Amino acid sequence: MANNAIFLSCMQSVQFGIDPNMIKTRNIWNRFAPNYEEGFVARFYGQLFRNALIEQMVYLEPVLARGFYCVDAGTAVGNNIPLFLKYGASCVLGLDMSTEMLAINSKKMQASGFGHRVILKEHDLTREKIPVNDGSVGLVANQIVSCYLTAIQRNYCFAEFGRVVRKGGFVLGSGLGPNFRLPAAVQDNQKREGHMDLLRDVVGPLLGEIQYLIKAGEISPASSEEMRQLLEASGFEVVYIDTPPGLENPEDRDDPDYVVRWLGRKL
Ligand SMILES: C[S@@+](CC[C@H](N)C(=O)[O-])C[C@H]1O[C@@H](n2cnc3c(N)ncnc32)[C@H](O)[C@@H]1O
Repeated sequence: MANNAIFLSCMQSVQFGIDPNMIKTRNIWNRFAPNYEEGFVARFYGQLFRNALIEQMVYLEPVLARGFYCVDAGTAVGNNIPLFLKYGASCVLGLDMSTEMLAINSKKMQASGFGHRVILKEHDLTREKIPVNDGSVGLVANQIVSCYLTAIQRNYCFAEFGRVVRKGGFVLGSGLGPNFRLPAAVQDNQKREGHMDLLRDVVGPLLGEIQYLIKAGEISPASSEEMRQLLEASGFEVVYIDTPPGLENPEDRDDPDYVVRWLGRKL
């Protein structure tokens, strides 16, 4: 196979793919794609979510036999893909509805030297079938994606995870919880004047738009209890649901619904 990431944007995605209600959200992610890694991941997301994901992968490494098939559901620019490969995935299928995120992801995978182990596909998780057989996947990763959906959309998405993950396989993820507030560092930064600043000009507006969608009822992050029910209803036993360590606001550390992370094992 060519040493390239394969970016499939197939006709099916164009004709049936994205839900018209998702177009607003997709536009937000398309707009932030060029600054996603440097702004969001490096300045905000890394601290809250990245360490939690590494912890989850360290936990899973001895449990999942090496060579498992991994679906990165909401892969964005693919910043987590090297981690899944490092911890034993033979191949990663990266799905995302943002064409801009996928374009950057595809370039990165081609430059990485392991692109032949990655397949990228434009995909709406809230209404398309994940293009793999039932019970064929060892791990679905769903990092900070399901919090941008409504409860009904999450139900569809997790029913698909339940279909594709094999018995004994896992789903992991994390996301903003219903009690999420803008971190102090982002708020402070918004008040300052001056030159382009990644926190003020990228992370702040992105989180601001997301909070607007939450207030308008267009998306609704799940609480830890809702995540428990959702995992169980989708055929997973809950391994744990908690708040990742490393939260930047000390007062948020004990709130399980500030940021939620979870791990489920397929029954
Ligand atoms: C905060 S990013 C998370 C990306 C990545 N998982 C990470 O950990 O950095 C959220 C991503 O989810 C994608 N996304 C949101 N809703 C989606 C949907 N319904 N179907 C597919 N992708 C979606 C967005 O396009 C965006 O790239």
